[in-house]
Order: sequence, then C-alpha cells, then structure tokens
Amino acid sequence: MKVLVVGSGGREHALAWKLAQAARVQTVFVAPGNGGTAADPVLKNVPFNGVTDIAELADFAAAEKVALTVVGPEAPLAAGIVDQFRARGLRVFGPTQAAAQLESSKSFAKDFMQRHGIPTALYATFTDAAAAHEHVRKHGAPIVIKADGLAAGKGVVVALSDDEAHAAIDHMLTTVGERVVIEEFMAGEEASFIVVSDGRDVVALATSQDHKRVGEGDTGPNTGGMGAYSPAPVVTPDVHARVMREIVQPTIAGMARDGHPFTGFLYAGLMIDAQGRPRTVEFNARLGDPEAEVILMRLKSDLFELLMAATDGQLGTVELQWDRRVALGVVVAAHGYPAAPRKGDAITALPPATPELQVFHAGTVADGAALRSSGGRVLCVTALGDSVRVAQQQALAAVRQVQLPGAHWRNDVGHRAIKH
Ligand code: AMP
Ligand code: GLY
Repeated sequence: MKVLVVGSGGREHALAWKLAQAARVQTVFVAPGNGGTAADPVLKNVPFNGVTDIAELADFAAAEKVALTVVGPEAPLAAGIVDQFRARGLRVFGPTQAAAQLESSKSFAKDFMQRHGIPTALYATFTDAAAAHEHVRKHGAPIVIKADGLAAGKGVVVALSDDEAHAAIDHMLTTVGERVVIEEFMAGEEASFIVVSDGRDVVALATSQDHKRVGEGDTGPNTGGMGAYSPAPVVTPDVHARVMREIVQPTIAGMARDGHPFTGFLYAGLMIDAQGRPRTVEFNARLGDPEAEVILMRLKSDLFELLMAATDGQLGTVELQWDRRVALGVVVAAHGYPAAPRKGDAITALPPATPELQVFHAGTVADGAALRSSGGRVLCVTALGDSVRVAQQQALAAVRQVQLPGAHWRNDVGHRAIKH
C-alpha cells in the first residue's frame, strides 16, 4: 500500500519513518518533505504544499491510489484538507476544519471547554483595547495574553508584570489580530498528552514533555520546541486516569455532541499542579513537534494499522505496545533561531542511524549531494536510553558530531525528569 504524509518538519520525517516500517506499506510519499526524507531511499518527496495545493494533492493521492493520507501540521488542517480529501472519497487521518478549531481558534477552544466543564484557566476575550487594559488592572500579573488565531506559538505572552501585559495587548491588537484572550496564570508542570481518536473512542499515546523556551533552564523566548522526552514522569498513573476522565473523554464526547466529531491526533497541552490536578493549557489538532519524534521512537506497534483502525472507527479494540526505555530528542537549531534563523548553511557529519539513534530532519533541504539548512529547527537528534540521563547523553553525543555553522541547542533537555 501507498501512504502520503503531508508536511515538511521533524514530525513528518518521524511519521514517514515509522509508517515505512509497517508490514503493509510499500511506499511513503512526503509532501513536500525535507532533506532527510529526500535522502531516505524508502521515502519519496513530492513537491506539493499542503495548504496551497490541496486539490493537486488530492489528484495525486487519487492517481497513485494512496491508501491513507496522514496530515502533520495544523495549517492544512485549518485550511480544510481533511474535508476536501473526504469529499473526494480519499481516506485521510486528521480532524475536519470545524474540529481543528480546537487549535486554530483559541476562543473556540475556550468556549468549548467552558461549555463542557473541561478544566482550564479562567479567561475573557476582548476586541476592545481599553476593556482589555482594564481587565489587567483589575486582576494583575502574572497573567497570560494570547492572540486568537494561528500564531505558531508566538501568539502567547506569559506576562510577569502589569507593564508587560499592557504592552502585549497593544502589540496583539495592532499587529496580530482582532481579538485577545486574557487568561488566569496557572502554576505547575507542563506535559503533552496526545491521543488518537476515531471520533468516539480514543487510544492514548505515550506521554511526553517538550521544552518551548530557547535557552537552558527554560529561559528566553518561546520556540516551536527545543527538545522533548517520553515518558513524562509528572503524568503518574493517577494523573493519567484523571486526564482521560476529566479532559480527553469529555472533549471527544463534547465535539461529537456539538456536531464536529474529532478524528485525528488530539494533543492536550496540560498544566499539572502540585496536587496532581491537570488542567488544559491548549489543544492542538495534531501531533506535537518534537513530541512526535520521541513518541514514535518508542512506539512498537504498527502505526499504519493504528491509523487505518482510526479511520475505520475501530479504535475500541486497539492496544499499543511501547518500548519501556526513555526517548529523548534534542533540536539542533539554526543560527539566530527563533528571531531570525539563518538559512542555507551546509550540514555535514550527521551521525548514522542505529536502533537507538535517529536524526530526524526538520529545516533541511537537499542541494545536489549536499544538505543545507532551510528553517529554524534544523534537526531533532533522538536517542533511546534506559534512563533520561542516558538518553540525554546519547542524544548530546550525537548532536556534538553534527557540523552546522552557528548551530545551537539545549544541553538540559529532560532536566525536570533527572534526579539531581
Ligand atoms: P500555548 O500556545 O497556549 O500553548 O501557550 C504557550 C505556552 O505559554 C504554554 O506552553 C505555557 O508554557 C504558557 N502558558 C499558556 N497559557 C498559560 C496559562 N494560563 N498559565 C501559565 N502558563 C501558560
Ligand atoms: N511542541 C509543541 C507543539 O508542537 O505545539
């Protein structure tokens, strides 16, 4: 069978790599893919953009008799790729445009959570700057200001002072969008909780945690994610059960009741407080990146069969097998990331893949026989180890071999799970 993966990041490289291992899969197309998927003889890049070329992609999938299309990033989902593929009778794994609003519209997600009693931070939505400023004066910092709409992680300011909050409101209402969401600040530890849903039943993937800040010790600006590891020990069995009961199941049931059954990867970004009470920071309508890299590194089950079961509405009987070891991924970022990533640098000396080590590509492009950087997050070097520390050491040893001028990465990925 043939499979098509839509997207070009580390998440899509990991999806394609894992799907290529499936017993029934002969060919994995990646649209448009990257330098890593280009170099892999089992994968085939096809030059379509998942957002602008949806009709061409559907033509391609139909002509090639692709058995299953898997959509990686949020933009094609928000653009309705799943609706368009389904309208053409093509099997596709992902949420519809309406269901993807759980990610694409913060106000949709917050209204949904409030209506269905799903624990999250208190919030208010504003289009009027004066009213938003008044709200900050009333509640005070720390307080969280979010732009409504897709802003790729850049639309969130955790304001530690009132001045910062006021400045964020002005910035967002003048340059980002028409609406801001102002939220109660939640203290605790974050984790990524991702499930596969067929619209009714869900199967939880392994838990993970990513590192959004660019600098060690979780400092500096937010990024798409500088590294991740799985499992996340903060999600104890008790917390896991609470997340399923209080967040995931009511979300899937609520979306179905509201007429937008959620099919696809549902990613709940959690804040878990000192008492082990989980609340939702955000939903994403997709796998996380770099969470996908570490989760898929640990998945022993056949990903193709899982996603076929999900698109058949047959998840009820599925159980997944996981590698008991820890997977840890370190993102190698380009010079200047996240503010102004430099592109076009040569990348050499990539360590070879082993059963315990994979170099997933993100912002890379093949340039003849050479490999060049083409985005902010360039690679996600992912290792398996018997402990977080061992997996971290293995990943870092491989990262240090990579030659990329101006590269930077975090040496402390997984620090919350390492006992000092
Ligand atoms: P989001 O894009 O909504 O995931 O927000 C990005 C990051 O901002 C999250 O991963 C959190 O670290 C932080 N954040 C967002 N909302 C809150 C909140 N209500 N309380 C504390 N931290 C938050
Ligand atoms: N790593 C966070 C995300 O994918 O949204």
